[in-house]
Amino acid sequence: MSDKRFYKIATKDEIKPGSGKSVNVGRDTIAIFNFDGEFYALDDLCPHRGAPLCEGFLDAGKVFCPWHCFDFNLKTGESETIPSMRVQAYELKIDGDDIYLLY
Ligand code: FES
Repeated sequence: MSDKRFYKIATKDEIKPGSGKSVNVGRDTIAIFNFDGEFYALDDLCPHRGAPLCEGFLDAGKVFCPWHCFDFNLKTGESETIPSMRVQAYELKIDGDDIYLLY
């Protein structure tokens, strides 16, 4: 059985549409994004050179890294630019105004 559980990590109004915010959970820094009113969570650290993905640009269901524009799918963490690169995606749960992360 998994010992993961949901942790409250933000409220919806803290992350405006088209933006991201980083949160520390355990030993990880995780980027939470609001794309068109839907929320997504990926590892914040870009695997290319370590940029904070929470500062990236959101478009077409992806975040584009703020440093070199590699893309990462908000649902899967996969990159079309470099298929061998990906970041971990996390499950979120919304309850009213609160955002919970499965970790
Ligand atoms: S650091 Fe993210 S694409 Fe280069």
